[in-house]
Amino acid sequence: MEPKPSSSAGTPIIEVTGLTKAFGRAPAKRVALRGVDLSVAPGEWVAIVGPSGCGKSTLLHLLAGLDTADSGSVRLAGEEISALSAGRRALARRHRVGLVFQAYNLVPHLTVQANVELGMRVAGTGRRATRARAQELLDLLGLSDVARALPATLSGGQQQRVAIARAAATRPDVLLADEPTGALDSEATGTVVDLLRTENAGGRTVVMVTHDYAVAATADRIVFLRDGKVTDERRPRGLTDSGGVVGVLPGPGPGATAAAGSSSGDDAEGPEPAGTGTGDVDLLGLGSW
Ligand SMILES: Nc1ncnc2c1ncn2[C@@H]1O[C@H](COP(=O)(O)OP(=O)(O)O)[C@@H](O)[C@H]1O
Ligand SMILES: [Mg+2]
Repeated sequence: MEPKPSSSAGTPIIEVTGLTKAFGRAPAKRVALRGVDLSVAPGEWVAIVGPSGCGKSTLLHLLAGLDTADSGSVRLAGEEISALSAGRRALARRHRVGLVFQAYNLVPHLTVQANVELGMRVAGTGRRATRARAQELLDLLGLSDVARALPATLSGGQQQRVAIARAAATRPDVLLADEPTGALDSEATGTVVDLLRTENAGGRTVVMVTHDYAVAATADRIVFLRDGKVTDERRPRGLTDSGGVVGVLPGPGPGATAAAGSSSGDDAEGPEPAGTGTGDVDLLGLGSW
């Protein structure tokens, strides 16, 4: 495994400045982002936390180039993605970004294994390497038994893990995950956090949105978003060897809604419905085909 790069090294892999985004028109206009600045170093692991509706999913979608901002800039590996056409954005995403959505977005008529293999097939990875990587991720996430099942037959927690396996499969430079543990019980949450840690240690930059402060505390840095703005950031300390958290977070910061320990059963309802277009999203960057 490659060593984790120093988080202060080089140019940021993600650089966001003055990002604003609103949906709809007055009087129904909803302002999702009100000028977000965020810089993420290569190899860094950032958690974004904040109350429901504060703009977390919108920010991730803009980072992925799935949508365009009203103003401001998003640079991915130095490339201004907001200036690219939808097709070029899809291409940039296919090469650089792995995405986990709040609503999973699995392909319903493909088996679990085929869902995990999809991005690698699109990228032209050889059959044997594709199989091996899918197998590795399915094993790691406890999904081998359901490899041949269709997504609809799985629990919410299982589907969420398939979505994570699929996003990580191509070893993207950047893994963006929206509430990756939102539907998981504490054991599955630990499995997913371990996987993210492994991917991050392998050099992947990770930006995850989470409601769970115990999960956030596993990151290098926690960014607090509130009402469309970054209000605070902290560097968590005091992780145990296993990555468990030992009550070190000094609290969520002003006004953030903590939901620490909010793990629900594996078959519990999924996470809060995603605010931004989760219906038909081109998460694999197929749009330019
Ligand atoms: N596609 C959309 N159409 C209209 N309003 C939206 C859309 N996506 C998000 N919003 C609104 O933007 C705000 C931020 O939403 P979102 O980014 O989903 O927040 P979070 O992920 O933090 O819960 C909310 O007020 C939400 O209702
Ligand atoms: Mg959201």
